[in-house]
Amino acid sequence: MTQDIYLTGITTTGTPHIGNYVGAIRPGIEASKDSSKKNFYFLADYHALAKAEDPDRIHRSTLEIAAAWMALGLDTNNAIFYRQSDIHEIPHLTWILTSMTAKGQMNRAHSYKAAVQDNEDSGSKDPDQGIMMALYAYPILMAADILMFKSTRVPVGKDQKQHVEMTRDIAQRFNHHYGDILVLPEAVINGNTAVLSGLDGRKMSKSYNNTIPLFADEKPLRKLIMKIKTNSLEPGEPKETEGSTLYEIYKAFATDSEVLDIEKRYADGIAWGEMKQVLFEYINDHIKPAREEYKRLIGDPKVVEQELQRGALRAREISVPFLQEIQHAIGIRKLG
Ligand code: TRP
Repeated sequence: MTQDIYLTGITTTGTPHIGNYVGAIRPGIEASKDSSKKNFYFLADYHALAKAEDPDRIHRSTLEIAAAWMALGLDTNNAIFYRQSDIHEIPHLTWILTSMTAKGQMNRAHSYKAAVQDNEDSGSKDPDQGIMMALYAYPILMAADILMFKSTRVPVGKDQKQHVEMTRDIAQRFNHHYGDILVLPEAVINGNTAVLSGLDGRKMSKSYNNTIPLFADEKPLRKLIMKIKTNSLEPGEPKETEGSTLYEIYKAFATDSEVLDIEKRYADGIAWGEMKQVLFEYINDHIKPAREEYKRLIGDPKVVEQELQRGALRAREISVPFLQEIQHAIGIRKLG
């Protein structure tokens, strides 16, 4: 049985939020401490382009997300930590995989279908209006990320599961044509916490503008938590934990016994205001030490850059020869 290789990326379109932390960063850091595992964590900056963000935002986000991983204690001697765009073999592989991807399959991607649906809902004559090829081909770039490092396990939120399945299909078609070269990955979905709800109760996501930044200072953090949507039940009235965003976020941070205790307080009718205060204090205490280090790194981007360069060197020790092997297999070879 060969060793599993874990790989996951975060798109650099915004400030790291507690959904990123709970879904990708925290489990990644945990795993990075296990020296028997060889894992890959990266900043998906080319994916950011699909969301048509502005250059300054992508640049800033890259620094912030990298600094977050580092401040929270990613073991970068063990895990390989890099920026997607530094691995020049990834866009090469993307093009190769593009030639092995059925257009019909991309038509079925949830994110593309959602964009078409939006156009139809708004009565547009052209269902593809305003949709860029980067959005359409997004799953192929993601397949290249995954296949480049022969990863077997890809921790992602539920919304990304389809992309990992598409990666398998693409790899299968490639292997069928060219021989057994690519390794088929599997998505790892942490059902409990991988998709956290945001301020308005929808999935916490940059696209919904409902996130809680991981390193918000105490005051803004408190203010945001006070804004989390609840219902109109009065203090003293028993409350359901199910469907409560406050509970869900608390659960993502707290230990099992602390969660049991909170469940009891819900049943006893804890006031929403009090629950908000409990949640604020919990997250604040949890994050405080890393927040200081995060600020230091944001003020010293060279340190972050160095770390990414070091990670790119290590990643390319793998991607350079593997791309050569792939190119050889498809007939892109030296002539003599
Ligand atoms: N598409 C992922 C997201 O937006 C980010 C991502 C890009 C990724 N490449 C990846 C995740 C490869 C896992 C593996 O959440």
